[in-house]
This record gives sequence, structure tokens and C-alpha cells, in this order.
Amino acid sequence: MTARIVALAGSLRLGSYNRKLLKLAVQELEKLKAEVDVVDLKTANLVVYDGDIEGVGIPPEVTALAERVSRAQGIVISTPEYNHSIPGGLKNFIDWLSRVRPQQPFQDKVGAIMGATAGVGLTLRGQLVLRQSLTALGVLLLPGNVAVARAADAFDETGALKDSRTQELIAKLMSQLVHVSLANPLATKGT
Ligand SMILES: Cc1cc2nc3c(=O)[nH]c(=O)nc-3n(C[C@H](O)[C@H](O)[C@H](O)COP(=O)(O)O)c2cc1C
Repeated sequence: MTARIVALAGSLRLGSYNRKLLKLAVQELEKLKAEVDVVDLKTANLVVYDGDIEGVGIPPEVTALAERVSRAQGIVISTPEYNHSIPGGLKNFIDWLSRVRPQQPFQDKVGAIMGATAGVGLTLRGQLVLRQSLTALGVLLLPGNVAVARAADAFDETGALKDSRTQELIAKLMSQLVHVSLANPLATKGT
């Protein structure tokens, strides 16, 4: 069986360190023969959540993203920390998808969290905030994580991490994500 995994960076900017970190996770997932669907929050172009918009109807771009998450068994998110929390774009994505009915798409998915920062703080406070929101939505989060500080110096010119231990942590987390996703009958939905 093939694990279907949605991968998402919490930063919109094209030169994002979290996009780079996510790319390494995607490469590990592909080595494990997972089917990876990369969601790009920049091109997703979601309007800010507004109950009045929802009152008229969930926007089709939200429904389309919810279907992509719904189809997956697992989700990996690599996000920067903004003001000790998560970026508004990522929270907006979570909030919109959480409103989709009859079943919001995060329920019972297996989740993995990673983060990179240009600073020294390792994104751990932001990761805790993300953990809290995803837990509220029923995501079965893996206890491990990946955290990269001083990201401007962490990657070489090919995009690889200079620190092989962090690369090993990514490989381990992605292996857990694939294997737990496949073993979780609640997450095994879709085609
Ligand atoms: C609005 C804003 C708030 C930030 N707050 C934090 C913070 O609380 N902790 C931190 O480590 N870095 C913070 N940063 C710096 C980001 O970690 C840094 O810009 C990082 O490179 C962004 O991730 P990206 O490279 O994936 O876009 C903040 C940046 C912005 C734009």
C-alpha cells in the first residue's frame, strides 16, 4: 500500500527556509515510496477567514484544499515561528479547512511538525501553537519534531543540510509518518 501525504510550508515567500526544509522531507517521503501532494499557500491565495463569506458558502478553493487533505493519510508541515506563534496564512488555512462539513479534513490524520528559523529559537514555541491547533482538530501528531535554527547558515548551495544529524531526524520523522499513516485505519480514506 502507498501512503498518501500532504506536505505544506507555513511560509509563503519563495526563498523560504521552511520550503527548503519541506523539500528535504518530501525527498525522504519519496524514498519511502509515499505519494506526496505539496500544497502551496502562496498560490492557494485564500481570503482571510470571514464568517460572512462562510455564510454565503465555503469558497471553492477551500473545498478543493480540504479534499486534498482529506484524501491523504498523513500531513507534514514545516513552519516558521511568527511572534512566538504560527504565521497568519497557515492559521487561516487551518481555520478555513476546519469549517468544511460534514467532516473537517484533519480528523484522524497522522501529523508531523517541522520548523526553520533565521534566528536562534528553533521555532519551538510556534511548533507548540501548531500542535495545539492540530490536536484540537483530531490530528494524531507524532511526538518527534525537526527544528532548524540559524537557517541562513544551515543549508549548503545544493539545498542539503550541513548538519547530518538533522537530516537523520527528518528521515526518521518521515519514516514514522509513513508507517504510522499506513497502520492507522482511521486515516485510510479516499481512493
Ligand atoms: C512577522 C514576523 C514575526 C517573526 N517572529 C519570529 C519569532 O517569534 N521567532 C523566530 O524565531 N523568528 C521570527 N521571525 C523570523 C523568521 O523566523 C524568519 O523570517 C524566517 O526565516 C521565516 O521563515 P521562512 O524563511 O520560511 O520564510 C519572524 C518573522 C516575521 C516576518
